[in-house]
Amino acid sequence: MTSILPHGGKLIQRLAQETRRNDLLNIANQLPQIPVNTWTISDLDLIAVGAFSPLEGFMNEEDYQSVLNSMRLSNGTVWSIPITLAVDEKIVSQFSVGDQAALVGDRDGVIYGVISVESIFKADLQEEAIKIFKTDDPEHPGVQKLYERSTIYVGGPIEVLNRPQPEKFGQFYYDPAKTRAHFQEQGWKTVVGFQTRNPVHRAHEYIQKSAMEIVDALFLNPLVGETKLDDVPADVRMKSYLTLLEHYYPANRTFLGVFPAAMRYAGPREAVFHAIVRKNYGCTHFIVGRDHAGVGDYYGTYEAQEIFSNFTPEELGITPLFFEHSFFCTVCGNMASSKTCPHDKNQHLTLSGTKVRGLLREGKCPPPEFTRPEVAQILIEGMKERITV
Ligand code: ADX
Repeated sequence: MTSILPHGGKLIQRLAQETRRNDLLNIANQLPQIPVNTWTISDLDLIAVGAFSPLEGFMNEEDYQSVLNSMRLSNGTVWSIPITLAVDEKIVSQFSVGDQAALVGDRDGVIYGVISVESIFKADLQEEAIKIFKTDDPEHPGVQKLYERSTIYVGGPIEVLNRPQPEKFGQFYYDPAKTRAHFQEQGWKTVVGFQTRNPVHRAHEYIQKSAMEIVDALFLNPLVGETKLDDVPADVRMKSYLTLLEHYYPANRTFLGVFPAAMRYAGPREAVFHAIVRKNYGCTHFIVGRDHAGVGDYYGTYEAQEIFSNFTPEELGITPLFFEHSFFCTVCGNMASSKTCPHDKNQHLTLSGTKVRGLLREGKCPPPEFTRPEVAQILIEGMKERITV
């Protein structure tokens, strides 16, 4: 069984149980209402099921400042990304520290949870952008999202009363308690987690399988929360993962489950966050390749690996596995990286995301050295159904 402890020592559980849930539902209508969007609802739910352990709620000012300045919570636990609740000024004026407020879906009016307000503070969004994203360029998709939010944050522990329901692929949503139990049932002692927001191409497959040579199993854990518009939609990606697993992976050593979080595009800091969350899901190892969680050229190719040198293995708890930029080498006749291939760059097959999307849009398969034909077929069909893929 995997023996890895959740981050901070215990798996947090903030789903209100029967009587408590009924009591809270009874009072929630009378509480001040904070509208929450899809992104915040996903954060709320991930806190409640322990994916964000040790967080028990949205960050208070002390933790927020500490994360910004030292990549740690105020008690010293490693944490790299702020998990915050931004609330409009006129709503904030309806409650004070010590009160409770209901968290209500802005689209459906569902009461998703209740927050016990511990802290109300003003954030300097430019400072947050520079510290988290290393840029305040409003063109950066993470910074853009940040700048759309209110500058007032409300922190405090939460309890969840209703959970968001997945529209599709519901059978691939597993809470950390479930994935941990599954790894244990399978007798896997070591499990490598793989984050992705893309279809799995040959380079991804190569680094996953290189890792699989040294661990018991792969947890393919694609992020399916909010992504930027030009990323391949989650349902098309899910179909591509299923096809790939069916044809090219050993079923008794792979497990597919989604990560329903929003993509931040925070590069290095998000790599640390991704690793910690996968530890909560029960992984012992986590893959960090080139430009993990990066976008454009905001981050250096290996910055998301270098950032891990700020932490000791003990305080991180999960072992990051670093991989160089991988490609198909026409001389080697196989996948490789600069660590294993001596040949010149012009012998290497590399295709940009834009180029691949262009080919798919024209109904053409990228070369099999880049994408498995079964996967390409799914992506081409996905393209036909949408205008922007
Ligand atoms: S991410 O934003 O979720 O990191 P992506 O789905 O492209 O993006 O990458 C998933 C993982 O594969 C990341 O760890 C990334 O660094 C790694 N990766 C992607 N492409 C390559 C490549 N060609 N060589 C090595 N690692 C890669």
